[in-house]
This record gives sequence, C-alpha cells and structure tokens, in this order.
Amino acid sequence: MPELLTIKMQQAMKKIKIILFLSFLSVSFYACYYDKADLLYPVGISAPCADSVGTVSYLQKVVPILQNQCYGCHNAASASGGIVMGTYATDKAIATNGKLYGSISFAAGFSAMPKGGAKMNSCQLATIKKWIDGGALNN
Ligand code: HEC
Repeated sequence: MPELLTIKMQQAMKKIKIILFLSFLSVSFYACYYDKADLLYPVGISAPCADSVGTVSYLQKVVPILQNQCYGCHNAASASGGIVMGTYATDKAIATNGKLYGSISFAAGFSAMPKGGAKMNSCQLATIKKWIDGGALNN
C-alpha cells in the first residue's frame, strides 16, 4: 500500500508541475503583450511617437494640441495669468522663454498646465518639445 500512495503522490506532483509551468508561460506571454506607450515610456523620457518624428509642424501638430488644452483659458479676451496664446507670435513667445514647456512638463517653478487638468501624454509632450527645440518654426 505505501508504494501505491507514493505513486499517487508522484502523479499529483507531476500535475502540479504542469499547472505551474503553464501559469508561468501565460504570465510570461502577458508580460510581453504590454504595448501601452505611456507605461513603456513614462513621462519625462521622450517617447518615440509618430508626431514627434522629423520636423514638427506648428500648424498641423502643435496648434491642435494647444487649441484643445490651452486656448480656452489663454486668449486675447481672457488671458489667464496674463498669458495670451492662439497666434504664432504669442505661442512662440512662451515657447522661447521656456514657460510653455516648463508649465506642460509640470517643471518646478512653473504653474502646471493645463490648469486643473491632467498632464499631456508623453507623445504630446515630445511633439511640443521637438517643435520648440527645432526653433519653434512657423510651419
Ligand atoms: C482652466 C484654465 C486654464 C487652462 C486650460 C490652461 N491654463 Fe495656463 N494658466 C491658467 C491660469 C489661471 C494661470 C495663472 C497662474 C495660475 O493660476 O497657476 C495660467 C498660467 C499659465 C502660464 C504661466 C505659468 C508660469 O509659471 O509663469 C503658462 C505658460 C500657461 N498658463 C500655459 C498654458 C498652457 C500651455 C496650457 C495648455 C496646455 C494652459 N496654460 C492651459 C489657466 C489655464
């Protein structure tokens, strides 16, 4: 009888090993399936995103982001904090004096923008940074 018990236990152990192996496999595959840019490239490390590759266009890439997140509070009629945005001249002014990137990257010493909203995603930040670093062109 003790032998039969041993054989049964060995069979049970085999099953447990197989189950462990299979769960290890599924966890490994799941780990490989992480393709969320924001998790892979935390804010601060510039993410390789399509919009920030090559020369970034002010009109096509930068304005849509700013329009969506900033112009509502910063325009000629309502210049929150004395900051006017919405034209190339005004946007370039805060781009070159460092306030644009300072505020959207939540850098120390600047008011975090968009005020009361979530930080831009890493791709939007990278796109604006690339435009500024490229000379904040009117393109
Ligand atoms: C809900 C309204 C609101 C939105 C949206 C908003 N701002 Fe502001 N912003 C303000 C106010 C109010 C101030 C004045 C400073 C303060 O209250 O923090 C300000 C200040 C600033 C300043 C000056 C910051 C400094 O430290 O000198 C900059 C630059 C700025 N905003 C840029 C932006 C940009 C870029 C966006 C879009 C990403 C944006 N803001 C979105 C309300 C807003």
